Amino acid sequence: MKVSVSVLSVYDRLINAVKKVNESSADFLHIDVMDGNFVPDKKFPIEVLKDKKTINKKPLDVHLMVDKLEQVKKYALLKPEYLTFHVEILEDYEIIDYIKSLGIKVGLAINPDTSVELLIPYIDDIDLVLFMSVEPGKGGQTFKEEVIEKVKRLKEFAPSEVIISIDGGVNDKTISLCKYAGCDMVVSGSFVTNSLKYDDRINQLR
Ligand code: DX5
Ligand code: ZN
Repeated sequence: MKVSVSVLSVYDRLINAVKKVNESSADFLHIDVMDGNFVPDKKFPIEVLKDKKTINKKPLDVHLMVDKLEQVKKYALLKPEYLTFHVEILEDYEIIDYIKSLGIKVGLAINPDTSVELLIPYIDDIDLVLFMSVEPGKGGQTFKEEVIEKVKRLKEFAPSEVIISIDGGVNDKTISLCKYAGCDMVVSGSFVTNSLKYDDRINQLR
């Protein structure tokens, strides 16, 4: 199981948290970008990330909770491993093709109440699906178990190369559901960052 660590819950101690992720066995650093429109909060403006870029040593897994596709293009400048934005704002294939043309892998995130069928037209063109197992917008919420059925439904039509990731409320209890559903990757925030030693928690998710 790949583990991507979200530092959203430790935004006010960002540098320290990123250093701890560097020192851990985490596969990715997950950055939750919020625009104040798609979700109420505003976090991780591009300027802050560009400024702190040198501190991070892990591949970046950027999760954009934004409602403008122009924002997606801006964050491509960070050259993340995965650039994920929400299927709810997608209009056509243009943005997917554009990100891929830059050599960046494309992810589509999907909210708990959005039908998984919305992914069908794009599924052959993307690299990752990010299932939200909480309402997007903040860390430390409770895992919504209903998402497991959606993951299973996706597996009926998604090519096996598409990485299935899940985000929100992932901890030592809910990880078994993620494994049972067949996820390849989990995003974990507060469960990992509440600990002094990130690897103690990451190892419980492997
Ligand atoms: C929620 C974010 C998550 C969040 C996960 O909108 O997308 O990445 O930081 O935090 P936990 O693991 O605490 O639910
Ligand atoms: Zn996220």
